[in-house]
Amino acid sequence: SSEQTFYDLVGGEETFDRLVRRFYEGVREDPVLKPLYPEDDFEGAEDRLRMFLKQYWGGPNTYSQERGHPRLRMRHAPFVIGEAERDAWLKHMGDAVNELQLPAEQESKLWQYLVYAAHSLVNA
Ligand code: HEM
Repeated sequence: SSEQTFYDLVGGEETFDRLVRRFYEGVREDPVLKPLYPEDDFEGAEDRLRMFLKQYWGGPNTYSQERGHPRLRMRHAPFVIGEAERDAWLKHMGDAVNELQLPAEQESKLWQYLVYAAHSLVNA
């Protein structure tokens, strides 16, 4: 049979839906992160992050079809992201990852990427 993507391995669509839904439950209530969403467009933001993560791990490439090249540093440039914002982002993402209860090796691969990506987006 053909190679299995990490996306499939961790449970596909359902897993990423759960991850991003749980993450944004935290973000919406967070005093540090909330002000970064002035239009209160949490649903749109949730869609974009969900599409991106699915695509990144080998799922459907809807993100690029709708948004083009990710260019994450450029797309985060309008927001002041210091250590406090990064740590708040990672706190909610950590809670969301834990709740997936993935096998240790999968959890660690996913989490290491998210930590690395969050550190790379600090711009202030
Ligand atoms: C967009 C904040 C880290 C992926 C956004 C937006 C904000 C934000 C305020 C705009 C919401 C919107 O789409 O309307 C932050 C903060 C971070 C962080 C404070 C802390 C370091 C990350 C990381 C990733 C990521 C680590 C990927 C692993 C995205 C994506 C979008 C986005 C895909 C939508 C880009 C687009 O297509 O316009 N982020 N982000 N972000 N973020 Fe982050």
